[in-house]
Amino acid sequence: MRMMKITGAALVLMSSTAIVHADNVEVLHWWTSGGEAAALNVLKGDLEGQGVGWTDMPVAGGGGSDAMTVLRARVTAGDPPTAVQMLGFSIQDWAAEGALANLNGLAEEQGWADVVPAALQQFSTFEGNWVSAPVNVHSTNWVWANSAIMAELGLEQPGSWDEFVAAMEAAEAAGYTALAHGGQAWQDATIFDSMVMGVGGPDFYQAAMVDLDPEALGSEQMVEAFQRMETLRGFVDDNFSGRDWNLASAMVANGEALFQIMGDWAKGEFIAAGQTAGEEFQCFRVPGTEGTVTFNSDQFAMFNVTDDASMASQMAMASAVMSPEFQVAFNTVKGSVPARTDISDAEFDACGQLGMAQLADAAANGGLFGSMAHGHANNPSVQNAMYDVITAHFNGEFDAATAAEEMVTAVELAM
Ligand code: BGC
Repeated sequence: MRMMKITGAALVLMSSTAIVHADNVEVLHWWTSGGEAAALNVLKGDLEGQGVGWTDMPVAGGGGSDAMTVLRARVTAGDPPTAVQMLGFSIQDWAAEGALANLNGLAEEQGWADVVPAALQQFSTFEGNWVSAPVNVHSTNWVWANSAIMAELGLEQPGSWDEFVAAMEAAEAAGYTALAHGGQAWQDATIFDSMVMGVGGPDFYQAAMVDLDPEALGSEQMVEAFQRMETLRGFVDDNFSGRDWNLASAMVANGEALFQIMGDWAKGEFIAAGQTAGEEFQCFRVPGTEGTVTFNSDQFAMFNVTDDASMASQMAMASAVMSPEFQVAFNTVKGSVPARTDISDAEFDACGQLGMAQLADAAANGGLFGSMAHGHANNPSVQNAMYDVITAHFNGEFDAATAAEEMVTAVELAM
C-alpha cells in the first residue's frame, strides 16, 4: 500500500519498502504560441524547482483535436505520455477506457472537492474518482479590441449586435481589417459558440449544443446564427484562410485590425507583446452573450504508468497545478482565471478581474455553459461533426438554411 506525502521539495511516494522520488514528466499539450509558452514555462519552472524534469511533446492546434489524434496513436502503440492537456468530454472518454490514473489520494489530502467548482468537477472526476487536475477556466465569448483604433473612430464598446456590426463597418471604411480571424475549423467553431448564444440565449444554447435537440439544431434561430457567421465572414481580410489564432491576435495588437472574437488565451498574446488590459487593448463579451459565459477548462490527466518514479512525478505535477500560488502565477500569464474558487483577484488585470466576476455571476445565475468548440458541450465525435458543418458553411459551401439542416444530420450520425 502506497502513501503520498508532500515535502518541501518534490512529492514522494512512500511504499512499505522505499521512498521514491519524482524524476521526469513527459507532457503532451498544444500550448505553442508565445503567450502559451510563457505560461507553460511557469509550470516547467515550478517542477524544475522541485527536481522534476520535463520532456516536451507539443502538438499545435486550439481545441486540441490534433493533440488528441497524436495521443491516440501513442496509447495504441503502448507508449502513453505521463501527463496530457485535456478538455472536458475527452477526459471522460479516456477515463471510461480505464486509461487514467486515480488522483483521489492527493485530491483528498489537498481538499480539491472543496475548492474546485462543480462545473469543473463534472469533468475532473469519473464515477466519483478524480482523474485530472484542472489548471484554469477559459471562456470563449470574448471580443478583443484595439483601443487606439476605437479612439480614432470614436467607438464605444458595442452593447448590441447591431452596434458591433456598425463598429466593424466603421473600421473597414477607415481601411482597417474589421475582424481578425484565422480560417481553421476550431476557430470558426469558437466564434460560432457566441453566435448561437447571442441569437438564442441560454435555453437555446443548452437545447442545441448540449442536449443536441434536433428541433433546436434545425431551427430558425440556428439559421440566424449561421447568418451572423456570414456577416462576420464579410469582415475578415482576404488572407484569413489557415491563419493561426495568435497571428490574428497580433493583428489586433499591432493596430492592423479592430476586433478578434476569441477565448481569453488571446490575452496571453497581448501580455506577451508587452501590452496591458484596458490600455492598448480591451475586452468585452460578444454582444448578445452578456451575462453568460461559455467556458472550457484545461486539465492535466495522468495516464496509467507502472513505475514508481513516474507515478511520483505525476503526483508532483498534479500537486503543483493545484497549488493556489501556481494558479495565480500561471493564469495571470495565460489569460485564463483560476480553477479554484478560493483565489483572490488582486493579482489579475482588468480583463482577468472582469472574467472572474462574470464567471462567478454566470455560475450563480444559470449562465454558465460548456463551450462546444473546446470540448465542454458534447463528446468529441459530435464536436467534430459540428466543426465540419460550421467550417464548410463559413467557406461558402452551404447557405445558412442548408447549414442548419446539415447540423441536424451530422449530429444525428455522430451520436
Ligand atoms: C485551450 C487553451 C489554448 C487554446 C489555443 C484551447 O482549446 O483550452 O489553453 O490556449 O486552445 O491553443
